[in-house]
Amino acid sequence: MSSISDPRQTSRPALRLSEGTSALAAQPRSSKVQMATRQLFKSYQKGSFGIPVLQGIDLDIYEGEFLAIVGSSGCGKSTLLHLLGTLDRPDAGEVHFDGHRIDNLPNASRDLLRNKHFGMIFQFYHLLPELTALENVLAPALITESTLGYWFRRGEHRRRAGELLELVGISHRAKHKPRELSGGEMQRAAIARALLNKPRVLLADEPTGNLDRSTGKQIMKILGELNQREKLTIVMVTHDPWIAEQADRTVKLVEGRIQGS
Ligand SMILES: Nc1ncnc2c1ncn2[C@@H]1O[C@H](COP(=O)(O)OP(=O)(O)OP(=O)(O)O)[C@@H](O)[C@H]1O
Ligand SMILES: [Mg+2]
Repeated sequence: MSSISDPRQTSRPALRLSEGTSALAAQPRSSKVQMATRQLFKSYQKGSFGIPVLQGIDLDIYEGEFLAIVGSSGCGKSTLLHLLGTLDRPDAGEVHFDGHRIDNLPNASRDLLRNKHFGMIFQFYHLLPELTALENVLAPALITESTLGYWFRRGEHRRRAGELLELVGISHRAKHKPRELSGGEMQRAAIARALLNKPRVLLADEPTGNLDRSTGKQIMKILGELNQREKLTIVMVTHDPWIAEQADRTVKLVEGRIQGS
């Protein structure tokens, strides 16, 4: 894994979103494959029955692209996203990141890889209820660093977390706990949290699925600009055709495979 760089050592300019930039502007995507799956299979056991979900997924994800994965409810979209994010292991097949196979790494390496390189956002936000919005955004730093390491860099982490809350437009809610936030505000906090460790890939599972259309549009604007301006690769699962249209490319999961592959 030596060629996978530590994102904390790469200097990137502070994140800025501009008011006037269209999140929807087309941009040629890189031809470099950043993530790939090869013949990915996954089934779940229900009693003595195996439920086949993914049945040979071959997918290339290009650096800097905004990819939407669509398909009917229960077709395996979340399952695929979890396998990409090393939250789960396939029964067979491979997942690659930066040219390295990652699905077969030991758990500790997968945890490290996920914390450093992948940001994840979920339909139901998954914020910790006892922490404020700012503390939730800081949580990945607490997980990645030792207590001592975190203590030494706490000023830097808090500054970045504050910047991220500003970026997603909820700095005025920094001290609020999730129960005091609206759905849109919780999703913004979850996006800020996903960005704390400067991920290379953002994996988003129905990021607007629990929001009204107008709030969903605001979230899509944030995601679109992160993709356009920060060149962040985004893989987003959605069942909403309008939301999928905001991506560069859409693939459809049908009967456990990518349609057309
Ligand atoms: N842990 C599990 N144990 C057993 N079956 C599971 C488990 N997780 C998912 N499944 C089953 O696998 C199938 C795919 O689930 P998945 O959550 O990936 O679908 P999805 O496409 O994300 O659906 P939705 O659009 O409703 O979120 C479903 O039939 C689901 O019931
Ligand atoms: Mg799902």
